[in-house]
Amino acid sequence: MKLNKTLSVIISLFLLLACNQKNNLKSDNIFKNGVVVTAHYLASEVGTDILKQGGNAFDAAVAVQFALAVVYPRAGNIGGGGFAVIRTAKGESISLDFREKAPKASFEDMYLDSLGNVIDGLSQTGHLAVGVPGSVDGMVNLHQKYGKLTWTKLLQPAIDLAREGIKLSKLEADKLNAYRERICEVNSDKYDCCYVCQKDFQVGELLVNKDLEEVLIRIRDKGRDGFYSGKTADLIVEEIQNGNGLITYADLKDYKSIWRPALVGNYRDCKIISMPPPSSGGIALLQLLKGAEIFDFQKYSPGSFEHIHLMVELERRVYADRATWLGDPDYCSVPVNKLLSEDYLVNRFSNIGMDKKSNSQEIKAGNVEVIESFETTHFSIVDKWGNAVSVTTTLNGNYGSKVIVKGGGFFLNNEMDDFSIKPGVPNQFGLVGGKANAIEPEKRMLSSMTPTIIEKNGKLFMVTGSPGGSTIITSVFQNIINAVEFKMNPQDCVNAPRIHSQWLPDKVYAEIDAISPSVKRGLQDLGHVIQEQSRIGMMANIAINGDGLLVGAPDTLRHKDSRAIGY
Ligand code: DON
Repeated sequence: MKLNKTLSVIISLFLLLACNQKNNLKSDNIFKNGVVVTAHYLASEVGTDILKQGGNAFDAAVAVQFALAVVYPRAGNIGGGGFAVIRTAKGESISLDFREKAPKASFEDMYLDSLGNVIDGLSQTGHLAVGVPGSVDGMVNLHQKYGKLTWTKLLQPAIDLAREGIKLSKLEADKLNAYRERICEVNSDKYDCCYVCQKDFQVGELLVNKDLEEVLIRIRDKGRDGFYSGKTADLIVEEIQNGNGLITYADLKDYKSIWRPALVGNYRDCKIISMPPPSSGGIALLQLLKGAEIFDFQKYSPGSFEHIHLMVELERRVYADRATWLGDPDYCSVPVNKLLSEDYLVNRFSNIGMDKKSNSQEIKAGNVEVIESFETTHFSIVDKWGNAVSVTTTLNGNYGSKVIVKGGGFFLNNEMDDFSIKPGVPNQFGLVGGKANAIEPEKRMLSSMTPTIIEKNGKLFMVTGSPGGSTIITSVFQNIINAVEFKMNPQDCVNAPRIHSQWLPDKVYAEIDAISPSVKRGLQDLGHVIQEQSRIGMMANIAINGDGLLVGAPDTLRHKDSRAIGY
């Protein structure tokens, strides 16, 4: 009897393993009590340790945000900003906007010369490109509203990592070496600005950052004042002034993150909880999902001509809306309800045909390549109580503006490039805009970040998000339709090849193997211009399976250091 029972347990385990193998699910990514998915294994470890100490998902998010600033300095940050979307165990949702702001002294034409032409690179590299950072204030607010553990406990892991040093992964050593020259050129104190400029980095070498350790200690001991005033503010303002930038003590002192109602909409039998403006992410995602519902995507197989053609046509219209209507809601009125109303969307998509491609260039001109990069970072966390948090945070470009605060050891963002610096002129992601996203003092620049949580039948179903600039929205969109329309398992949703289109330029970007040769021919016959791109997006997913277990699905295929760790 006992032997039979043991045998049946062994057989069930074997079947579970075999089944997970077949479904591309690693059984070690399934957890009962909590899971943290980030772009770096050390940050995922930090988050999980906090959960194990009795912290909730929000505590873990704070610890992860600071840890990423140490272990993933090209995107993890204290010198940037981001958004968090939250769903508590009770089912309440809210979002936190810790997006950077334009400095008080900024003005609409600040990146144009006397003839009104854009000065090349000024909004992307160097001290003038920097927006007032929001991440530290955001984390303070997140902790004050939802934290269980002490602030000190949440800061300590990042401080320890900065002091003891981290072993550089191949990815990070290569990136530092690739950007070293540019980083050192930009800084006011060339070649003596920081740890980056002294030598080539080796894989496995220990990277210690004493300056950053001290900044983090000040944040640990003084909270927001440890960053926005005192010694850290002195260092930031001195760095900015030496490089002729605009940020002042008053900018730092007055920065405030904002709690905003999450943007909530229905799609099929799901409730989508996402980020409202100043991100375009939530609105664009809900428009696209409504399109998938209107055209009943589930009729088609993934990767078919119909699936790809319809996605591209929807994306073209949604990104055109983005360029025209979206901006910081505290500075312009964003017609959210109209843009998401059923009538509007049915009408907006009504001229999509299976046998014709619409032409973006006829609507508005513009021609810039989408830059392939992974400089933003996304992390998803669920705890044992069922609290969920989805955070996308960024410096914008790789190592942001490339400016590293001398004596502070951290990079400053180049988020000013997310404004429309001149109507119709594309930013580094090829995105164009107009008045709604023009520069104004203290305004927040429009974002594409789309941290999202999905509920099904009143229960938590998925936590998701991605970096990738303009491709964030379409990556999150595809991930969700993979799950809902095509019923893929969580890891397959992430692994599936992705495409991207954004109105301008009038192209379809496709990961290698995303489009089969015959579908490609069909799309080209209609006039679609297809351009291969090695990677689009980098999801960090958590899904809840039928047994109520947490399935972590990192995008390790596209980014080796990503990891789901839990317990
Ligand atoms: O807020 C935005 O939309 C951009 N600053 C995000 C940049 C980004 O995702 C870069 N990398 N992958």
